[in-house]
Amino acid sequence: MTSLLVPPESIRGMTCLDRTAFTVTVELPFLKICGTTLSKTIPVIKKYLFKKRNFKSVQRENDETVIYLNPMLIKTFEDFTENEKEQLLEMYEDFGTTKLILKYDNWASYEILRAILPKEIDVPTSYSIIGHILHLNLRDMHLPYKTIIGQVYLDTIPNIRTVLNKINMIDTTFRNFTMEILAGDENTITTVKENGYTYELDFSKVYWNPRLSTEHETVVMYMKSNDVLYDVFAGIGPFAIPAARKGIKVFANDLNPESYKWLQKNVVINKVQKNIRCFNMDGRDFLKTIFKADILNRRAANKAGMEHIVMNLPALAVEFLDVFFDFFDKNEIKQMCCQPPTIHLYCFVKTNKGEDACKLGQLLIEQKLGCKLSSDSLIELHFVRNVSLNKDMIRVSFLLTENILKDEEPAMKRLKTENTVDALSDNITENNGEEQRTPKETNEQKCV
Ligand SMILES: C[S@@+](CC[C@H](N)C(=O)[O-])C[C@H]1O[C@@H](n2cnc3c(N)ncnc32)[C@H](O)[C@@H]1O
Repeated sequence: MTSLLVPPESIRGMTCLDRTAFTVTVELPFLKICGTTLSKTIPVIKKYLFKKRNFKSVQRENDETVIYLNPMLIKTFEDFTENEKEQLLEMYEDFGTTKLILKYDNWASYEILRAILPKEIDVPTSYSIIGHILHLNLRDMHLPYKTIIGQVYLDTIPNIRTVLNKINMIDTTFRNFTMEILAGDENTITTVKENGYTYELDFSKVYWNPRLSTEHETVVMYMKSNDVLYDVFAGIGPFAIPAARKGIKVFANDLNPESYKWLQKNVVINKVQKNIRCFNMDGRDFLKTIFKADILNRRAANKAGMEHIVMNLPALAVEFLDVFFDFFDKNEIKQMCCQPPTIHLYCFVKTNKGEDACKLGQLLIEQKLGCKLSSDSLIELHFVRNVSLNKDMIRVSFLLTENILKDEEPAMKRLKTENTVDALSDNITENNGEEQRTPKETNEQKCV
C-alpha cells in the first residue's frame, strides 16, 4: 500500500506498456452525509475532493452519500479548519478511511508519463488536436519512449484515435511535415470544426494549424459582403470559406494539389460554391493572371466594394510582393490604386528580448517594398502568435497605394534594400517549433 498518489516507482523506464503494473492501493479518507445536505457540504469540502480519472469523488450508496477526500490534504477530521469543522459537524454522519485500488485507468496522462519517464526527462505535455488526431512534437530525449508516449495519450485523451509525431521541421513547399504514427489508427483523414465551419483534410498532406482559428475569424471580420477576397495561399479554405459564406466573392488558390482537392471538397461541405472559385497555381502566377485581370475588370466596371489580398505563407509571402511592381504597368497601377486593395501579409520575425515583433514585421515589408508604410497605407500590425522561443508570427495589413508602387523603378528600390533584407533573412525559415509555447502565444495583441 502507498500513501503517495502516484503510480508505483517500479514502472520507471518502462518502454513497452504494461497496464497491470500501474495498480496501487491507497488509503482514502471519506465523509458520509445524508443526501439532503450535499449541496451545503460541497462548497465546504470542494478543495479537498479526491479527483482521479474514471473515479467519482461523490458517490451515492443507498440513502447515504460518500465523499472521498484527497489523503494528501486530509487524513483526519482534525485536518479541516475550525470554521470548516464547525460547518461540517451539522452535516456529516461519519468520517473514516477506506482502501481503494487505483488502476491504470485512474491515472491521467501526466501521472502515467511522469512515472514512466526517467526523472531528468520532461513529460511532453504540449500537443494539438486535429479531429481524431493528437499531434505531438517530441524532442530527441523522448524518442526512446515515443511508442509508449503515443499509447498513453491514445488511452487517456477522449476521442483520440491516432497519435502522431512530427519528425522534421516544416520545410516543404506545402508547409506540411513528415510525421510518424505513434499509436492507433493509421488514417490521417479527419474532420475539424473551426468558427462554425467544417473542414475535411488529410493531416499528412496539407497544412492545418488549430492555433490560427482566431486569426481566420478576425481577418474575415474586416470584409464586407460586396468585397472581394483573393486568397493567394488558401490551404483548405479557413479564410476563403467563411468569407464566401458572408457573400464575399472569393478567389482561393493553393499550389499543393492536395490542399486544392480538400479546398474544393470543403467548399461543397460548407455549401459556398456560389461565391468561390478555386485555383491550383503558384501564388505568383495567380497574382499575375487571376488577380490582375479581375481587379482591372472591376475598376473598368466601376464596381463597388473593397479588395482584400490574403497572403498567409509567413516564411515566404514577402517574396511575392515584387509581382505588384513587375507585372503592372504605370497605367494599370493607376487604375488599380485609385481604390487601393488591402494586403493582409503574414511574416515571421526573429525577436530578441525587448524588441517589438510588430515593428520588425513592418520593417521587413518596408524593405521589400523599398518604402515606408505611411499612416495612410498602414492599417494594422497584429501579433498573431509566438512560434518558438525567439520567433513570432505577425500580420501586416496595409493598403497597396499608388505611392508604394510608383515612386521609383522597382529594381532600384529592391537593390537599395537588398542588404537589409538579407540581415532579416532568418525570418523566412520556419521550424514551426510549436512545442515551445510561451505565454505570448495566447495573445490578441494589436500593435497599431
Ligand atoms: C501556412 S499555409 C496557410 C494555409 C491557410 N491559408 C491557413 O491559414 O490555414 C500556406 C499554404 O500555401 C501553400 N503554398 C506554398 N507555396 C505556395 C506557392 N508558391 N503558391 C501557392 N500556394 C503555396 C501551401 O500549400 C499551404 O497550403
